[in-house]
Order: sequence, then structure tokens, then C-alpha cells
Amino acid sequence: MSSGRRDGIRPVGVNPLDGFGPRSWARPEATGFGRVAMSTYLVRPDVLSLDGGWAFVLRDRPEDVTADDIAGPTAGWGAVEVPGCWTMQGHDRPQYTNIAMPFPGPPPNVPDANPTGVHRRTVTLPASWAGQRLVLHVAGAETVLYVHVDGEPVAMGKDSRLPHEVDLTGVVQAGRPFELALTVVRWSDATYLEDQDHWHHAGLHRSVFAYATPPVHVADVHASADYDPATGEGRLRTVVGLGVDGHGPKGWTARVDLAVADGRALTATAPARFEHPTDTLANWLLFEGRGAVVDLVVPDAAPWSAEVPTLHRLTVTLLDADGTEVDVVSLDVGFRRVEVVGHELLVNGRAVLIKGVNRHDHDPRRGKAVTPDGIEADLVLMKQHGINAVRTSHYPNDVYLYDACDRLGLYVVDEADLESHAYLRSLLKDPRWGPAVLERITRMAQRDKNHPSIIMWSLGNESGNAPVLQAAAEWLRAWDPTRPIQYESSIGEAIFTALAAGVDPDMGELLARPTPESDVIAPMYPSVDDLVAWATRTTPDRPLIMCEYIHAMNNSCGSLDDYWDAIHTHPGLQGGFVWDWVDQALVQQLPDGTERLAYGGDFGDEPNDGPFCLNGLVDANRVPHPSLLELAAVIAPVRIAAVDAARGVLRVTNEHDFVDLSWLAPTWVVEVDGMAVADGALDPLELAPDASREVRVPVPPLDLEPGQRAHLTLTFVTVDDLPWALAGHVVARRQVLMATAPGPTAAPAPVPAPADGGASELADIEPTLALWRAPIDNETFGPVLDPHAGRWERLSLRDPSGFVDLETNVAPADDGAQQLVTHVVMVPQELDDIARVGVRLHLGPGVHSVEWLGDGPHEGYSDRGASTRVGRWTTAIDECPVPYVHPQASGNRTGVRWLRFRGADGAVRLTIDHLDDLDVTVSRWTQEEVADARHLEDLPGTDDCYVWIDAAHRGVGSGAVGPDVAPSHRVGPGPYRWSYRIR
Ligand code: GAL
Repeated sequence: MSSGRRDGIRPVGVNPLDGFGPRSWARPEATGFGRVAMSTYLVRPDVLSLDGGWAFVLRDRPEDVTADDIAGPTAGWGAVEVPGCWTMQGHDRPQYTNIAMPFPGPPPNVPDANPTGVHRRTVTLPASWAGQRLVLHVAGAETVLYVHVDGEPVAMGKDSRLPHEVDLTGVVQAGRPFELALTVVRWSDATYLEDQDHWHHAGLHRSVFAYATPPVHVADVHASADYDPATGEGRLRTVVGLGVDGHGPKGWTARVDLAVADGRALTATAPARFEHPTDTLANWLLFEGRGAVVDLVVPDAAPWSAEVPTLHRLTVTLLDADGTEVDVVSLDVGFRRVEVVGHELLVNGRAVLIKGVNRHDHDPRRGKAVTPDGIEADLVLMKQHGINAVRTSHYPNDVYLYDACDRLGLYVVDEADLESHAYLRSLLKDPRWGPAVLERITRMAQRDKNHPSIIMWSLGNESGNAPVLQAAAEWLRAWDPTRPIQYESSIGEAIFTALAAGVDPDMGELLARPTPESDVIAPMYPSVDDLVAWATRTTPDRPLIMCEYIHAMNNSCGSLDDYWDAIHTHPGLQGGFVWDWVDQALVQQLPDGTERLAYGGDFGDEPNDGPFCLNGLVDANRVPHPSLLELAAVIAPVRIAAVDAARGVLRVTNEHDFVDLSWLAPTWVVEVDGMAVADGALDPLELAPDASREVRVPVPPLDLEPGQRAHLTLTFVTVDDLPWALAGHVVARRQVLMATAPGPTAAPAPVPAPADGGASELADIEPTLALWRAPIDNETFGPVLDPHAGRWERLSLRDPSGFVDLETNVAPADDGAQQLVTHVVMVPQELDDIARVGVRLHLGPGVHSVEWLGDGPHEGYSDRGASTRVGRWTTAIDECPVPYVHPQASGNRTGVRWLRFRGADGAVRLTIDHLDDLDVTVSRWTQEEVADARHLEDLPGTDDCYVWIDAAHRGVGSGAVGPDVAPSHRVGPGPYRWSYRIR
């Protein structure tokens, strides 16, 4: 076996992991050892993937790892897939916590029970790599990585979300097998800096590979591609870092070739400086390191933006003194300029709106080990829903994500792997963590600097204020003047301090505070009023971009339209990032072999934060929640408003910053109570960015019967296939009311006679008063408020029959086959802010589907109705509720005017009409059954059917961490009267 160490370091302890000092997993000052300096990720021809099956053994504690584990036989060991989390491969368990640490502190205490996995593999690098520089790349290890080669310690590193590279030249030989041991310690001092609100996993969750470079090589490329929006000129400065062991050669050059997207080929060269002349003091002092700086000017450069993500291929070639090519690397660059000017964040001179989402790495079967296909699918789905920005909450992602954002067109806020939430006020002020903090931020920037998609750096999340963060910000500003910085916790520490003291934070004051380490104001969950107050009462000196807003926890996301009304109205408000993209539910196999979607605590993980990880606009399998559809409607890049809808006059605004609307085809339809009466197409609009104009749709004259309404819908679809959508994809759609003929709305005649076998008489369906709903998660959780769920229990809202009267009047209608039902309720003063005022009807079994005239097709609430539209919709009863992983009230439909229930045979069982735009919920389960279920599979199998007809129904808001339901969408005390006709 090779003894191989070039640095002379030998293990000092009996434990093989002590090769870099004892218990380095619990020493914050030990951030890494033996790693190659971080560089941009350069694609090279000589790469050997080490992904796949690795022999694996899990020890209870790092102290239990033996020398045999590191280099001895692996007979009898298990196996894991790399990339992969061992927590998702039958070992140990995932653990979900939000603020609380997964184990008790204080820092840097690490629990004694500390799963430690040894991954082993015999590796032979290609013999053809002989004479080259040999590098091992471990793209991600949670949380501490130890690298041993043939039993010898070679490197150690922390920061779960950035690569560790190890130079193996001289340690191993190409063509000769060696034993590679990658040992991962799960809990460490680093865990205190990785206290994000997510699943803690463990293992090698990103790829492992080896590669070769020439001994004298391009070690790094820093390409800054600036775009001047005034002249259209692109300027590319390429700083080439050079690597060599010992003294460098003389007379070499670096050449830069730019394949401009329009077909031009530009080239430039510069001397490659290796030598450090020490003949004069000036030469000592003026040495700037090894490298070359090559400048290129590109007249009429096609710029990069999220709307038009033009990339140009940059190739960097290192040539020796004879002009022979020694090393060639390439990468994509995009010309763009990002700057904060006054209260605006400008991209290429335009104040772009950030229509962003926060995204965690999450795969329901693989945990943090997301795949390129999974990342791509996420980004494509985002683009399809009008999202133009991603915050990599809360850590650097795999490089694939940035490449894909460059290519597809998404702005990125790249966030360092830094969150000390549980120790918000203390940890970063402790100098022992200083090197780690700086390293996490600077290494991220060094890896990701070349991506045009990254428009801002984020120092991290919820780590409080500390001088070290200001130091990091200054480092970034000096090193990379091309990107502003965002950091929330200038505000966050003050908020949490106030909350901990039981005081409501004064958001107005906090938003106005200086934020030395942040170039934008990046608050979390401000209310619309806070935003408007900031924008109108202060003189904004920086843009405000919410790093998180709208808490998409299961049934949620109320008032998105109010946020965007404010953003559209007030300069300085430039959008934000919804919390968050995907439900962090994990597939769990149950003892009977079935699977379910699990959340915190389901794995016996203690402590845990239960279902608080289910905050996604999409579910864990990427099925959009209704909230994603709402977001898409609210942020659509084409805004449509009625001017004179009855005569087909609409105002269309192009909200793009860089393109006109000719890539979209407009079509229109006029519907009377959901039935199309006319439709057509308009010519594409060559409406310039930010421009607005009236459009006249050739609508026909209308002749409405009493109770009917006519709507005009204008839709913009993609003309051509795009990298993220096929032709015909809906980019914007808006329905406006054209005309109403007063009167109650009857279900279309003739009303068929009820079929046998189902409830049809009012007496059978027992209307009972309903003031409660199975609380949604935003009503159940929350660090601050007295959550409504508990308050409603104290008010005995589940069954109000003993203290609130429901008056029901029934009158025969028409030939007596129908009944006109009127309900009257006086909600007492003490029942303020309740879930609903309505009745529950029990339809019993035999109902299979429901058709309705009203808002749809998907779930809607009074504060989440921008994406629904009036129509005649049909859905199976089974599909009325939304299958939120944590059961809660769902499936409400607003603006309902009639309903018709059918059996499996299609025969009508019951018709309810003459509804005056009421809220209706249909479900197989009672609200009690839903509230008492922890998981969907806890709900009883049943053929029953219940219908709630509500005079008022509470909105959904963002209550747990964001603003509660807006007052106008709450249900208060007072008299309520509503009626309907039934047969
Ligand atoms: C924020 C935090 C997120 C998440 C969210 C609530 O405070 O940054 O990570 O915890 O609240 O779901």
C-alpha cells in the first residue's frame, strides 16, 4: 500500500479520523484540511465517475471507526448508492427540524450518538492519466467528510453543500488500484451553521468523480461579462488562474476564444504569468499571483437576461512557449449588468421584477440527493408558471442548477450554507466560527462566479447580525463588484428578539434601518401594509425584495394579488421569493409494504417539527398545488384589465423587460354561464416592454336571460415550441365580467327527476350549522400568535348547535318538486374571526361527481381567486378535496350559483341552484374526520358525501409566519342570511 503523504502529516490519534487532530468534527476552527482551493467547475475530457454502488458500514460514533474500516476488508458490509443519503437507503433516519437544533447544545457540543458512515471503493484511475495531475472531487457530503487513501488521511472538509477537491497526485498512481475511504460524520460543529428548516440527512448526496489535468494547467477561470445597455457593448474580462507544482515555465500564453451566439468568433491572448521575479522589491510587492488576464470587447453583444438567456461559449487555452496547446477548458458566459441604482435593482438597465421562489433540494425518495432530471423538471415547471427567479434556499446547489438557470433563463440568488437559527444571537458573534462563516461565503462565490444567472449573493439565512458577516460582505464587494448582496437577518435578529420578548416587532422601523451587509432590503413575510408604508412614507434608498413572502404551507397563499398590486404600484418594491417551492415530504414504506408521504416525526425522529416542512407550491412529486396556479396568474408577464368589457375593450400591459409580445398568440372566448357563445384569435401584439395599450375584441351582442352572466376571457399562448414549453402553452389568461342579467341563477332546464337511491329531500340531508373547518396549517402553527385552531377549540366551534341558532325556512317551489331553503343565523359577538358561516348537508352514499357553475376548476378562497374563473366544471367527489399531505380543510369553490350531483351511472341525484355566489365545499369526509387525521391514509374509506354551503368562508392567508388572513377575508359576528333551491 502506498504511504503516499507528501505533507508529512501522520495520524496523531488511535482513531483514523483523528488524522487532522482529535475530534475535528467538533472543532469549529477546523473547517477543512488538504483541500484544493475552490475554483469554478470546469468541464474536462478526462473524468472518471465514481458514482454508483459503494461498500458501506455505519458506525454509531466517529470514535468507533477503525483502521480496518478505512482500509481493511469490506466483506459483510452493506452497500449504498452514491450520490445518495444513507438516511434514505435503510440506514439511520432522516430528521426534520425547523429552528430547534436536532440535538442539544450548546455549541460546539456534538452528541455522543453520532452516526458515521464509511464508504469504501477500490479505484483505479485510467493508466492513460499517468503523468497528469490527479484530482478527486466530492461534490457534497453531509456534514463532515474524511478522505483516506490506502488507510492514510488525505483530506477533511466541512460545508455540506459545496465540493471538496483533493489533489491525489503522488498519493495514487494512474493505472494502479487504491482503496478510497470516504467517511462521513453526521453531526458536527458544522451542524450549528446548517440549522436550516429542512430534513437533516447524511451521506454523499452529490456526485463523486476523479479527473486529470496537465501538471501545468488552468486552475480557475473568472469570466466577468459586462453589458452596457446604453451602447450594446459587451466587455469580457477573463482572469485565468494557473496551476503548477514548483516553478512555472516561461513564455507561455493564455488564449481566449469566444464563440459569440450570433456566429462571430473573437479571440485574444495574454501572457501567462508563472514567474515571480524577486530581483527588486517592487517585483516582490507587485506580484499579483499566477495567471493571465485577457480582455475582449464585443460590439453589439446579445445580452443575457431571464427573458432572453443568450449564452456564448468561452474557451480558454493555455499554450506553451512553442504555441502548443497544453490545457483547454470551456464554459458559457452571458453578458449582463446588475446594479443597484437608487431604489432599483437593475438588470441591463431595467428595473426587473423578481417573481421568485425559494427552492430546497428535495427528492421524495432520495432526500437531498436530487438528480439533474429532477432539477431540470423543477426549473421547467417554474418557467411554465411565470417564475423568473430562484433563491437557492438555504445553501449552494449542485452546479447543474446554475447551468440550467443560465440556459433556461432564471435569475438566481445564490445563498451560502449558513443558518445558525437556534443560536441566532450568539453563534456568529463567537470568533471560533469566523473562519467557517467566511469560508462558506467565499467558497460559494469562487465556485459559482461565472454564472450569468446569479444576480445576487446571499450571505445565508437567519444567522443574526455579526461583524463577520459585514466582513464577508466587504470581501464579496471587493472581489466581485458585479453583484449586489442580500441578507435578511439585519432585520431578522431584531424580529426574533422582539418575538422572544413577547413584543410585536415594528416592521416599519425595521425596514427603514440601515443594512450594512445587504445592498437590498430583503425582509421576510412583511404585510402588504408594511410594504406600502415603507414605499410611501420613507424615501426608499434601496430596493426592497422580499427574500421570503407568502407561506405556501398546504392550503394557503392568500392575498398574493394584494402583494402584486402593491409591487406594481410602488417603485422600490421589486417582488420577492415565495416560501417555498416544494413540499418536503418523504416517501416512507410502512410495515405492510405500502408507502405514504411522511413528514417530521414519522421516522421516529426526535425532536421534530411535524408537518411544518410541507410548504410547497408543488407537492413532493411536483404536482402543482392550487397556490402555484394562483402565483402564475398573479405574476403573469402580460396583464389584462377590463376597460369596457361589454364592448370587448381590454387593456393589455406587457410586463416583460426585454421582449415584446410577438412570441405570444392571443385568443379570446365569450361565455354565458360557462358555455362558449363566440371565440376567436387576435393578431400577436408587438407591444414593447413595459408598454400598455387598449385592445378591442370583436365580441358579439349579448342577449342574456334573467340570472345569466357573460364573461370574456383573453388568453396568451406560446407561438413556438420553447426549451421550457411547447407551442400553445398558456402564459397569461384573464377573465372579465361583461354583463349580468339580474335574478337567481337556475340550473339549466330541464331539471331531471332525481334517480332512486340517494338523498333528494331536504329532510334527508339534514342541514346543520357549520362555523368551523378542519384548521389549515397556517391556522394551526406559528411561533407568535394564538393559533386559530386552538382558539376555535376553546370556542367549541366544532359543534355550535348548543349556543348558536340556525333558523331554516323551507318553502315549496314550482310544482312542489323543488324546495326553496333559507337559512338565517345571528353569529354572536364573541365568535369573531371564525372559519365559516354555513350549513353542512349530508348527501349520503351513491354520489359520484359534482358539476357546478361558479369559480373553478380548482380550489379557491376569497383571498385566492385570481387563478379561478367562472365556468361549468365537473369533478369526481373523490377529487374535490386537495390531497394535502397533512389533511386539513380544502376544496372550497367560490362564487357558486348552482350544483348538480350525479351517481356513478351519470344520473342526477340532486340539484341545488339559485345560489347567490356562495362558497361550496364537497367532501367524502366530515371536517372532524379531516382534522383528526394525521395523514391522508388515516381518513376512513367511505362512499359518503357532505356538502357545505357557506354564506361566508374565511380566506387562507399566510398566518403561521406571514400575515394572517386580511380583515376583509375574515368571517365576523353578525346576521347572515342565505338561500338556495333544492331538488
Ligand atoms: C423562514 C425560514 C424558512 C422557513 C420559513 C417557514 O423563517 O427562513 O427556512 O422556516 O420561515 O416555513
